[in-house]
Amino acid sequence: MLAKSYPYYVANKPVKPGKKKLDVLDKYTGKVATRVALPDAAALERAIASAAAAAPAMKHFRPYERQAVLEHCVRRFQERRDELAYALCVEAGKPINDALGEVIRLIDTFKIAAEESVRIDGETLNLEISPRTAGYHGYTRRVPSGPVAFITPFNFPLNLVAHKVAPAIAAGCPFVLKPSEKTPLGALIIGEILAETDLPKGAFSILPLDGRHAEPLVTDPRLKLLSFTGGLVGWDLKARAGHKKVTLELGGNAACIVDGDQADRLDAVVDRLVFGAFYQSGQSCISVQRILVHDDVYEALRRKLVAKVKALKAGDPKKKSTFLGPMIDTATAERLEGWIAEAKKAGGRILCGGGRKGAMLEATLLENVPRDAKLQRMEAFGPVALLQRFMTFDEALAFANDSDFGLQAGVFTNDLRHAMRAWDELEQGGVIVNDVPSFRVDNMPYGGVKSSGIGREGVRYAIEDMTETRLMVIRDV
Ligand code: SIN
Repeated sequence: MLAKSYPYYVANKPVKPGKKKLDVLDKYTGKVATRVALPDAAALERAIASAAAAAPAMKHFRPYERQAVLEHCVRRFQERRDELAYALCVEAGKPINDALGEVIRLIDTFKIAAEESVRIDGETLNLEISPRTAGYHGYTRRVPSGPVAFITPFNFPLNLVAHKVAPAIAAGCPFVLKPSEKTPLGALIIGEILAETDLPKGAFSILPLDGRHAEPLVTDPRLKLLSFTGGLVGWDLKARAGHKKVTLELGGNAACIVDGDQADRLDAVVDRLVFGAFYQSGQSCISVQRILVHDDVYEALRRKLVAKVKALKAGDPKKKSTFLGPMIDTATAERLEGWIAEAKKAGGRILCGGGRKGAMLEATLLENVPRDAKLQRMEAFGPVALLQRFMTFDEALAFANDSDFGLQAGVFTNDLRHAMRAWDELEQGGVIVNDVPSFRVDNMPYGGVKSSGIGREGVRYAIEDMTETRLMVIRDV
């Protein structure tokens, strides 16, 4: 189902592989699955110059024309659903059920953008607030920011690309995208579909550059915004980005609180915790990492959770029965194995899992992990979760906030006051009540505080970042 090779895109046009190619590995077998054309510094320069040249045409590309492009994408994604899911399954090692789920979300994200593209409106302002301003009237509208740069990670090769590309088209911004070199296929198939549309020449370029050659995306002043999803290195990019606007989505070590009143629905809670901590091997910025459990339900929850995690089916992501596939590569699995060993040495107890074969790390649960261990403090980004007991809700909130990150948190509780306090006091971009922090719908504002980032995605919010408010004042004469 994969092509033998894939082109990259500069100024809407495919560039076929030359001598230099990028191998895309099947993350489960470790074998080369296909090859991708490898762009160089000259290709990036052409992409940026074309995006800058395309800015006026994109600005004047009408909202209904932008909508038609996005609707075309929705149709083609629907037609190519199985191929897209298979590509994800191979290039990211994502279990096929999760991969199909991601294609559905890709379609949702483009549908939302198609709707938003024709309602990017402004305001009428009453300026007559004192005698000095009698006869003045204010109006705003949003204008595209201009050419924009995107850098996306390996864990959602379609939908995290969609969260940048679809709002850019809706907003009227030409873009240059660098998808992860580990998982470029999703973005390149999106490119193939965009190349079928009437987007103005130069409106998009998609270059699976390696990180060393991507620097102009950060520093080039012709690019007016950098939107980056990835690790903490995002803060360094921001420091080098000059005058451009920067939005960062940098992950977290999400906490999920299980209150003491959950005894009669523990099975349902455990089901969601297992999903939240281990789907796509925990490689999500909002994966459940720290499970904070009230003393009243701790023992029962631990027993049920361990039994469920031990029963998870790991193996070949292409099989429908597989829940847990490989991590993105062996080095990443080794890194996390090292963190588990460190936590154990410091007094943590492994409740299940801990073993590793190549990139396959077992679903792992620990308890009693000291608060200064890497597994508590940093983003695990893998199939590992920690159990921690609390006695009072105040203590749970304090544990949850004891983190440098703040993307999303979950709270299972029947107590409305606890839900409201969590919403009020948790230092997070979002608080999910009666579900895991891993819950996301693609029109929600999504982004973090503290080290987790700056700005929000969720189409409408990304469009705000990709447009500027332009004011007009009219004086009665
Ligand atoms: C992420 O890993 O930041 C994306 C999570 C999601 O879209 O579900």
